[in-house]
Amino acid sequence: MKFFIDTADVEAIRELSTTGLIDGVTTNPSLVSKAARPLVDIVREIADMVPGPISAEVTAIEAPQMIEEGLHLASIAPNIAVKVPLTFEGLKACAALSGRDIMVNVTLCFSANQALLAAKAGASFISPFIGRLDDIGEDGMALIEDIRIIYDNYGFDTEILAASIRNADHVKNAALAGADVATVPPQVLHALVKHPLTDKGLDAFLKDWKTTGQTILNKG
Ligand code: E4P
Repeated sequence: MKFFIDTADVEAIRELSTTGLIDGVTTNPSLVSKAARPLVDIVREIADMVPGPISAEVTAIEAPQMIEEGLHLASIAPNIAVKVPLTFEGLKACAALSGRDIMVNVTLCFSANQALLAAKAGASFISPFIGRLDDIGEDGMALIEDIRIIYDNYGFDTEILAASIRNADHVKNAALAGADVATVPPQVLHALVKHPLTDKGLDAFLKDWKTTGQTILNKG
């Protein structure tokens, strides 16, 4: 499974990029608003730092303007994936941009039928929003499972990018359901590492090691 980081915080991405765990980054207009910096600067800095796909979202709502914005965003760096919303206009823009060999991430997906349409429009990524479905009492993970079956039935190579991930269980269940990618906020990536028995075990090892009086590196 690939891991993307879901943030527009360049410093957080810089820190996490040293882990070797990060395959890409997703941003959206709300995350850019939180970062309070120009979108183009943010995207350029991230694209320099992370070689994988960096999603940058259009904000127009009609296809011709979406295409224009998408071409501009794609010109920032070769690893940009243009994010378009799952509307008819977004699907038209997806087809046009994909036809020019530009990666497209179709976002705000909440149904299997929407995901089917995005794949037919040539999307590189489909972003089902798990957390937001759970928030309204629906089963976000069931959507990932359905999309996996549909894409496998027809051999679509659109990657399932599990989005709106809120906790470590979402990541595990998305992996079990066969999502190709999980985009996770930095705090969820940190949470994935943590286990109380790891901390407890490490404390005990270090305590016992101290009693040996040894050091691994003989300095001086
Ligand atoms: C994905 O690309 C979106 O940016 C993101 O996952 C949305 O998550 P939220 O529902 O927590 O805002």
